[in-house]
Amino acid sequence: MARVLVTEEIAESGLNQLRLAGHEVDVRLGLTPEELLDVVVGAHALIIRSATNVDAATLEACKDLVVVGRAGIGLDNVDVARATELGVMVVNAPQSNILSAAEQTLALLLAQARNIPQAHSALKAGKWERSKWEGVELHGKTLGVVGLGRIGALVAQRASGFGMRLVAYDPFISEERARHMGVELMSLDDLLAQSDFITIHLPKNKETTGLLDAKALAKTKKGVRIINVARGGIVVESDLADAIRSGHVQGAALDVFEKEPTTESPLFELASVVVVPHLGASTAEAQDKAGITIAEQVQLALAGDFVPFAVNVSAGEVSDVVRPFMGLAELLGRFIGGLLDGEPADLEVLYQGELAGAGTKILTLCALKGLFSSTGHQGVSFVNAPALANEHSVSFSESSTVVSQEYINLITVRSSGHEVSGTLATVGTRIEPRVVTVDGHSVEIPPAASMLVVRNDDRPGMIGIVGVALGHAGISISSMAVGPSPEFGTAMMVLSTSSPAPMELISELRSTPGIIDIHVISLY
Ligand code: NAD
Ligand code: MLT
Repeated sequence: MARVLVTEEIAESGLNQLRLAGHEVDVRLGLTPEELLDVVVGAHALIIRSATNVDAATLEACKDLVVVGRAGIGLDNVDVARATELGVMVVNAPQSNILSAAEQTLALLLAQARNIPQAHSALKAGKWERSKWEGVELHGKTLGVVGLGRIGALVAQRASGFGMRLVAYDPFISEERARHMGVELMSLDDLLAQSDFITIHLPKNKETTGLLDAKALAKTKKGVRIINVARGGIVVESDLADAIRSGHVQGAALDVFEKEPTTESPLFELASVVVVPHLGASTAEAQDKAGITIAEQVQLALAGDFVPFAVNVSAGEVSDVVRPFMGLAELLGRFIGGLLDGEPADLEVLYQGELAGAGTKILTLCALKGLFSSTGHQGVSFVNAPALANEHSVSFSESSTVVSQEYINLITVRSSGHEVSGTLATVGTRIEPRVVTVDGHSVEIPPAASMLVVRNDDRPGMIGIVGVALGHAGISISSMAVGPSPEFGTAMMVLSTSSPAPMELISELRSTPGIIDIHVISLY
């Protein structure tokens, strides 16, 4: 059972899913950063939204942390780089609230253009102000979309229904994709100069913070209106307030602020500014989707499985062909780690048969994780395995060939002069992993928690010597495979034992004439 710390409002549907899976769900809302540093100790998972700052100190305070789950999109409140160094997975729910955020953008666009909140408040305050709150139509106006990603694209699609001309600035989107959406791509300066409405849909990072400052606002068309449902600080609030006061910018509508929560901003006193307290994702639908998605992702991470929405795992997409082989690849990495007499120098993984060309990056990552886990490294994860390889100068690579002589699929891992191959075998109705060769000897055997790999002279009596020694130590053999190698003139015994063989026994066998080497392998 893992302890899942939840520091912000998350849909009960998601939290219940975690409780049903047997986890302890500890909901602590409204913690100060200092309180968080205490409460996070002992948590295996931390689930947040945008108000919890998961900085390096928080991550370092929590030695047991496996995963940070962000129930939403933006990751500007998580130190992803430090999490990666510490082997902590960071996952988000990238699709959960995009529709809600896009609809909120359109709501704010219309509210700003038609002064709806202002007129509403006036009427409720007893003032019938028809002429004061005249607005403008969207039809025929140019909408400049800054950041044509998931939300930007949904906004563009909806705005086209209002008959707006659509232009966008996004250097990472192809002309063709934009054209397909009916959007004209252009430079930021051109967009600023041409747009009647500008809507921001960028991630917040070093490059985008302060993108719309006084200098950029001075380049906009007179009378422009600015909408921001992305992140506070991309538009500089004080510069925007000045530009509105000067009459150059007509008005703005903001969902997000430089500092949150806040009840103070130079924009709040301006009549043509519409503001709401970060409500872009605050719909029942988005919260349900975010809660359920993040619960699923956190559960997978806690189980050590592959997590599709992990943002700091460098594995790309995982196909249905590749997914079943993840456990096998990790076992082979562990197996070869057990054959090494010291730290690994390298890892090479060869994929043969149907796996060739199937996007095997995740399998190589699994093998690397297995290798480091079995060579004395604690807390190895999909996240930090490449960083560990880098730190320990372990080069890793993969190659593939469609040719596989005996098996439909075969994975071979090589490290520091050793080589182990494995496959998935059909046993009745089950698919089971099999180790099929070890250092050039054919030995078909299911992987097990405790195994011994004995290389000996290829002569009679050797199996008896090992069997008797294990028997004297009270250890039974659960399965065994023997493979001679005519090429090396040696034989290989691979045995699964009921319990791990003690070191004295291994030393005794190592000094027995005819035994060339012996290795203890722990796979689970
Ligand atoms: P996305 O990653 O799908 O899209 C972002 C786009 O910005 C991408 O197309 C990318 O190419 C582009 N981009 C990145 N850096 C750029 C740069 N320097 N200049 C120009 N373009 C750049 O993200 P998304 O899901 O569409 O989310 C957009 C923003 O909305 C994020 O900041 C997210 O946190 C925020 N968001 C806010 C709410 C809310 O409640 N207000 C809800 C959801 C998302
Ligand atoms: C997000 O990035 O997903 C939003 O800002 C929504 C949120 O955190 O509630």
